[in-house]
Amino acid sequence: MSKNILVAGGAGYIGSHFCKLAAEKGYTPITIDRLTSPSPQVEQFRRSAVQWGPLEIADIGDEDAVLSIAEKYKPVAAICFASLIEVGESTLQPDLYWDNNYYKVMRFFKTLERGKLRHLVFSSSAAVYGNPTTAQPLNEEDDLAPISPYGMTKLSCEIGLQGLYARQGSSDGFIDEMARRALKLDYTYPEFRMSFFPCLKSVIFRYFNAAGADKSATIGEMHEPETHLIANAVLAAQGKKQFTLNGSDYPTTDGTCIRDYVHVNDLARAHIQGLEYLLAGGKSDVFNLGTGKGYSVQQVIDSVKKHVGDFAITHGPRRTGDPAFLVADASKAKQVLGWEPTYDLDAIIKTAAAFHKDN
Ligand SMILES: NC(=O)c1ccc[n+]([C@@H]2O[C@H](COP(=O)([O-])OP(=O)(O)OC[C@H]3O[C@@H](n4cnc5c(N)ncnc54)[C@H](O)[C@@H]3O)[C@@H](O)[C@H]2O)c1
Repeated sequence: MSKNILVAGGAGYIGSHFCKLAAEKGYTPITIDRLTSPSPQVEQFRRSAVQWGPLEIADIGDEDAVLSIAEKYKPVAAICFASLIEVGESTLQPDLYWDNNYYKVMRFFKTLERGKLRHLVFSSSAAVYGNPTTAQPLNEEDDLAPISPYGMTKLSCEIGLQGLYARQGSSDGFIDEMARRALKLDYTYPEFRMSFFPCLKSVIFRYFNAAGADKSATIGEMHEPETHLIANAVLAAQGKKQFTLNGSDYPTTDGTCIRDYVHVNDLARAHIQGLEYLLAGGKSDVFNLGTGKGYSVQQVIDSVKKHVGDFAITHGPRRTGDPAFLVADASKAKQVLGWEPTYDLDAIIKTAAAFHKDN
């Protein structure tokens, strides 16, 4: 059996960590990435992050390019990390997000089918839960009500993908239920049973907050602009950036948002487990990936100050689309895939600091 895996967005933060682990496990990751960033440094860094297999520079929406890459390498499965990832930007430029994160992704999946791929792992996000009103931690059955175009594109991809499973004869009605909740419909909507991708089996992962870096410190989080808390706090503690705390009037104990931080290598390992589950005949399914522990922004700041160094804080307003509290119940990933996170917050911060020190 081919050990080649097509990795869309493999030059990015989570994708590069996956490629490293995949190579360690005996797979050959074939990265498809368009390598475009507003920053030449980020672009150069992404290119250098593709170290564990071939790099094919292409847009996932380019059917001819993707098809010829699939024909060239005959991969056994695909992983789709490729996406724009800024929630705030998506509220300002929704068309950009619908085009890249939905239409191109849908076209990519169709091309995978034409290229005879049958297994896919897709990166979704906790953003599909929107601003939850139910008790937390959140499990996969909780209400899906995204509040940003970013979250809506992710949920739309989920619906497109796993309608497939319903069409193949799943009796659990999962997609129907999900579509009804998302669209707040009080009747069943049979069209959603009709997946666009009758030949693709998929594992969908809803990540909570990815953070940290590989212990080698050669790959890590590099976005432009960087909006993620741990990277920004570490950069501030290393004197490379000013730090702004966005909102301290949330209904939480210290007034700052609470999030569930999961190490990028734990996410990478989940993808290997998800991939092997599919290859062993597992059914299409969706899983939360998080630690189940919430930390406030203030707690993260305190921990970065302790482990990396002191820094000044400017107080700013809330960011659009930031819910107060997002914590995962990832027990399904443990039960079905045997996945468990291994890094705690201190270890996440230390690995991020080691990476940003040299990059
Ligand atoms: N970082 C997080 O905390 C987080 C949380 C939840 C979900 N996610 C999801 O995880 C995935 C990976 O996130 P990341 O932080 O590694 O992002 P990233 O920006 O570091 O990497 C994304 C990669 O995809 C590539 N890409 C984007 N659109 C493309 C296209 N049309 N064609 C080809 N390549 C394209 C980019 O060039 C980049 O290398 C995304 O789908 C994101 O939505 C991330």
